[in-house]
Amino acid sequence: MASERSALFIFFGGTGDLAYRKLYPSLFNLYQKGTLREKFAVVGTARDKLTDEKFREKVQKSIGSDSKEAEKFISHFYYEAHDVTDKAHYSVLKERAVELDKKYKLQGNQIFYLSMAPNFFGTVAGYLRSEGLVNDKGFSRLVIEKPFGRDYDSAKALNEALAQSFDEEQIFRIDHYLGKEMIQNIEALRFGNTIIESLWNNRYIDNIQVTLSEKLGVEERASYYDKSGALRDMVQNHIMQIVSLLAMEQPVAFTDSDIRAEKVKALRSLRVYNVAEAATNFVRGQYDAGGKINPYREEDNVPADSNTETFVAGKLMFDNYRWSGTPFYIRTGKVLADKFTRVDVVFKKPLVDIFSFPGSSTSKPLDTNVLTLYIEPKAGFALKINAKNNDQGFQTAPVTMEYFVDPEDSKKTPEPYERLLHDALKGDGTNFSSWQEVSYAWKFVDQIRKVWDLQQPNFPNYTPGSMGPAAADELIERDHRQWVYRLNK
Ligand code: NDP
Ligand code: BG6
Repeated sequence: MASERSALFIFFGGTGDLAYRKLYPSLFNLYQKGTLREKFAVVGTARDKLTDEKFREKVQKSIGSDSKEAEKFISHFYYEAHDVTDKAHYSVLKERAVELDKKYKLQGNQIFYLSMAPNFFGTVAGYLRSEGLVNDKGFSRLVIEKPFGRDYDSAKALNEALAQSFDEEQIFRIDHYLGKEMIQNIEALRFGNTIIESLWNNRYIDNIQVTLSEKLGVEERASYYDKSGALRDMVQNHIMQIVSLLAMEQPVAFTDSDIRAEKVKALRSLRVYNVAEAATNFVRGQYDAGGKINPYREEDNVPADSNTETFVAGKLMFDNYRWSGTPFYIRTGKVLADKFTRVDVVFKKPLVDIFSFPGSSTSKPLDTNVLTLYIEPKAGFALKINAKNNDQGFQTAPVTMEYFVDPEDSKKTPEPYERLLHDALKGDGTNFSSWQEVSYAWKFVDQIRKVWDLQQPNFPNYTPGSMGPAAADELIERDHRQWVYRLNK
């Protein structure tokens, strides 16, 4: 059993999709594992008027269990109808908090989880402080959902609003990719293995490719998505976080402050593109009709003339000693060939290929070594190397060494939200985005957005089930390279 933690959770947006689909099931997992046992309570809040009983029924549905254990877990849940813009009503929340703190011996520990529209984040944080909900008895932490701003200026304004009420160490900005098992494995792979880390630089690595491919479209989130687009929805946060873990130097120690310091240093050396560079190094796409899939512009809640991108590919360059000259190619999009996330590290070929015999019709040039990190759905690593093939004569052929996490063990892997709630309870900020990381990521992305906003895209430009528009292939082929993962080529 894990060691027990104590806290009061107040969920703002406690009746929303995320709370029911991810947050309450994750808390239940923590309960079953013993991190939460007797000393915790949950207050769900939203404007809807629910009784504690009605709310508990909904929570029970969300965790999908009516066992005795589930019943005990749910008895810790309470509901408070609360409009976050109603300053006076925070006193009612405070009374509930004090009462539950006493009842469950919570020692003043509180986690305020903002799982609602981002335009409310600043308001809630301000009132939590001004109306006296933040106490100095135990810890008071603020967990914030995405998106954190829609550009650098709005993110900065939001951060300044939060900073009036909470210190940076109290703010936990969610990026659920950081809660994924194989994303966390990047550090183990790099800093736990001399054979990897000693080659992890521009002398041996030709390029790195990060692909976050989605098979689904925008589903019922179109009204949010159409104002965001793939660049803001996936690149500014998830992809920039992955890239910074791949690019950073070894932290002094495995602590949140040391890791964040290295990620920030890496992001600071990411080349921020000027207009011409942004136009050349990034491409965008929007899906057309294909099979049973409607074009993006015909999705519910999407304007018929929408120029929102549902696909992005780009090339990132770090101007530092380790990475100068080694590009990081990234891509992500909706309704692509499949749902998967992977990182392909492409090594340089030997400077001299002694196995290519001029004039021989059978000799083939050496293949590149590729280390693939499979993030999801399968989790593991593969290393492609050259070896002598099993024939007479002397020819080389690529062979792949693979390790995949056993699917049975994978089932035991905690969901990202479970991990992140656990980390927030421990006060460990390693797998959350710091303000500095967020700000450098926005500064980079804003330049791309600025260029795109000036030019009319030629949308729609890719077919569902493909790997995006032709321009994404041209982007990398121009550099005499290819995507490692590609369809039928
Ligand atoms: P929903 O729209 O499903 O839920 C919004 C919640 O906020 C509801 O509980 C709503 O209840 C409440 N709310 C709205 N206005 C007020 C108000 N003035 N005062 C108090 N409560 C209010 O949103 P999601 O759960 O989908 O998203 C929540 C957050 O999580 C967002 O920041 C989103 O970007 C992020 N997120 C969501 C994901 C998802 O899969 N859903 C994925 C990744 C991030 P009521 O109307 O009764 O007040
Ligand atoms: C979210 C985006 O942050 O990540 C969604 O808002 C996207 O658009 C989702 O679908 C992908 O997450 P995952 O964990 O399914 O790869």
